[in-house]
Amino acid sequence: AVIRRADYAAPAFLIDSVALEFDLVPERTIVKSTMRVRRNPDAGAAHGAPGARLELMGEALEFIGAAIDGKALPEGAVRAHEHGLTIEHAPDAFTLTIESACDAGANTTLSGLYVSSGNFFTQCEAEGFRRITYFLDRPDVMATYTVTLRADKAAYPVLLSNGNLIEEGELPDGRHFAKWEDPFKKPSYLFALVAGKLVSIDERIRSGSGKEKLLQVWVEPHDLDKTRHAMDSLIHSIRWDEERFGLELDLDRFMIVAVSDFNMGAMENKGLNIFNTKYVLANQETATDTDFGNIEAVVGHEYFHNWTGNRVTCRDWFQLSLKEGLTVFRDQEFSADMQGGATDEAARAVKRIEDVRVLRQMQFAEDAGPMAHPVRPESFVEINNFYTMTVYEKGAEVVRMYQTLFGREGFRRGMDLYFKRHDGQAVTCDDFRHAMADANGRDLAQFERWYSQAGTPRISVRTAYDAVAQRYSVTLAQGYGDASNAARETQKGPLLIPFAIGLIGRDGKDIALRLEGEAEAKGTTRVIELTEQEQTFTFVDVKEAPLPSLLRNFSAPVIVEYDYTNDELAFLLAHDSDPFNRWEAGQRLATRELLALAARAQAGEPLALDDSTVAAFSRVLTDETLSPAFRDLAMMLPSESYLAEQMAEADPAAVHAARQFARKRLANALKRDWLSIYESHATPGAYEPSPEAAGHRALKNLALAYLAEADDPADAIRLANAQYDNANNMTDRAAALAALLAASASAGTDAAERALEDFYRRFEQEPLVIDKWFALQATQRGSAQRPVIDIVRKLMAHPAFTLRNPNRARSLIFSFCAANPSQFHSADGSGYAFWAEQVVALDALNPQVAARLARSLELWRRYTPALREKMREALERVAGQVKSRDVREIVEKALA
Ligand code: ARG
Ligand code: ZN
Repeated sequence: AVIRRADYAAPAFLIDSVALEFDLVPERTIVKSTMRVRRNPDAGAAHGAPGARLELMGEALEFIGAAIDGKALPEGAVRAHEHGLTIEHAPDAFTLTIESACDAGANTTLSGLYVSSGNFFTQCEAEGFRRITYFLDRPDVMATYTVTLRADKAAYPVLLSNGNLIEEGELPDGRHFAKWEDPFKKPSYLFALVAGKLVSIDERIRSGSGKEKLLQVWVEPHDLDKTRHAMDSLIHSIRWDEERFGLELDLDRFMIVAVSDFNMGAMENKGLNIFNTKYVLANQETATDTDFGNIEAVVGHEYFHNWTGNRVTCRDWFQLSLKEGLTVFRDQEFSADMQGGATDEAARAVKRIEDVRVLRQMQFAEDAGPMAHPVRPESFVEINNFYTMTVYEKGAEVVRMYQTLFGREGFRRGMDLYFKRHDGQAVTCDDFRHAMADANGRDLAQFERWYSQAGTPRISVRTAYDAVAQRYSVTLAQGYGDASNAARETQKGPLLIPFAIGLIGRDGKDIALRLEGEAEAKGTTRVIELTEQEQTFTFVDVKEAPLPSLLRNFSAPVIVEYDYTNDELAFLLAHDSDPFNRWEAGQRLATRELLALAARAQAGEPLALDDSTVAAFSRVLTDETLSPAFRDLAMMLPSESYLAEQMAEADPAAVHAARQFARKRLANALKRDWLSIYESHATPGAYEPSPEAAGHRALKNLALAYLAEADDPADAIRLANAQYDNANNMTDRAAALAALLAASASAGTDAAERALEDFYRRFEQEPLVIDKWFALQATQRGSAQRPVIDIVRKLMAHPAFTLRNPNRARSLIFSFCAANPSQFHSADGSGYAFWAEQVVALDALNPQVAARLARSLELWRRYTPALREKMREALERVAGQVKSRDVREIVEKALA
């Protein structure tokens, strides 16, 4: 059944408080719930339930009994069914008691209450609470919770839930209990409990107003040596939210718990965040610099949800981006501040570039396919399928545009007003927009279209210089190009687009900008507001024909079309004062050249890359005024999936040939530079996870990766083997192993065998590192003689492989299906057959994870005819076999 935003109706009943009692036993946990229920005075009469029927949601539950005001309900007054519990003739206000049971031990969906490594965990967002107990499991029903946990003390020494611990003690038969109280009203999706054999590191800090807070990171005992970074990240997050937004931690106690079986990254349950181990555990032996950065970002993200998500939550799931877009924006700003401080624009740009890469590669692709939807979707079948790049990443760009329009101070004024108006409420994206508008005295009616229109906007740019009048005009025209059907339906009119622009003179310096009608020039970057379908902006006093620097710092999530020459791009790459656009110029140049190479590869013509292009990249690589982290990003060619997406018909083999050719060309032509960079960016001595040290490692390891592509990879093999053996950190060890895998692919040797075996033995006890071992092999290059599908199939039978652990399934299956395009899209269709098998197998265990995997074929219509046909067959095979609503929605939309 399709759920529509337009059908929203306030709940007929409200639940003000709930007391939950759990008797935790893996096979049959008994849950007793006591709720204060009353009719909702604000429920619209038109939508109100007929009479006083109360419909509670429930799934996979065993109903035991119910009572109203202490009187057991007779049969006929209450009915348990597949979707929940129906209670007839409910009074206006009453106490409802319900007893039910669930089987956590058999719960492979990892939604609701489940067991992982012998411990109990919960995941309730979006609709998992109904798998724990019967409830009004919707975010606009907010209640206070008291939770009593009872369990065997030896097996489950630690008992945690939201809020504050108010009581604990012993029970007969070796059991014990703990009672928790959360003083804040919350929706059911923020409920959590954890029980088991866990240990914590603790810190006590004082928050801004001087109150003492207990911070804890809970893990399995053998992981205690990997918690420091998460704890530091939490402390930094708390400080940052106080400083940047004046938001203080509101509980006496804040806990993070790591679990190895988890569907997503992490969950912001009030006071009890539950995390995938991947986003908690780190030390230099096991985690890369990227892992350290991701942990900081995700810890920040979940912590920031405490205000943006928990204190102010979503009225309904169509408003998901209200909390996710805003919280991603906040975590991006946090990471940028941690990397570069508030003012070092070049350092901040590194984070911005990384985020935009992800957006373009993943969200633009989503927006071009059958799953395209607005930031605030209009309908869904399964809400779990809408935790998407659009809701999260594009949603964050939409929030960022308010800050681009109003500045940091204006954005802060809007945030302050948002909390002043809505603290403690469940609200909508419109409420947020109105707070931003009112706090800044602006009418933002047109801006609403960013929430309701799907598809990636395209801005085509025309410029004209009048030397006599010294006027330079820039004409911007917006549209959506040939959007997918799913997107086109939503497109109603022009957007308000903040478009940051600069003009660069022949000397490479920015020109002071004066728009027609202004008394004097001010600044060198201006945010002009495009509101019409087409508009011309004229700059005056322009003494020479400038080069435009367009959409600086990626001021809006759009595609800019402008015909730069190769020379102009090389010039921007060398001179643009906007670091983002400097990077962007290199990417444009590379994309153009790579697509030309791909076309030649398709036509069977010989491949060649201009010396001038190589020279442009060589200049960035060796420009010592640029940070190593920036140079690393600048030298990274656009990914194969991004390039394929730019073709009229995606041809992964041609793209792979083109990109490999260019990598080889850069490897050979710049070999001396790569070797000297490899030497000069070594980070000897003790490992340091700082952004600077990480930047050196990134550039050094990029050099190693390029050297591995050289015609003679002997240097690379020698350096990589030494680096592998001597590494004192995972960044260098994993990079060395990757380089060995690449070198053996180019040289046709088995240079990586020894290191691969050593890596496995060395880290056998570290699941997150073994995930890397699987992923590195699944994403390796492969060749006609050694197709990666054969390696992947063999690894599926490895004793360490299991479909039941999402991280492990992702490390092998998703890495192959979503991150190794040329091997996955092999012409014989073997990749698709494998995909179909795995989607069906996962569907029976874990629909959410299966649905994610199902999405790797959704762009099938955009491929060459031969591949397209094979993909359609595979999709139809899956459509005929899957059971879950999750996967069904994906494959049906893909085939529609
Ligand atoms: N709210 C979580 C976060 O972004 C994501 C949880 C989503 N879980 C799910 N099963 N859909 O931090
Ligand atoms: Zn989130």
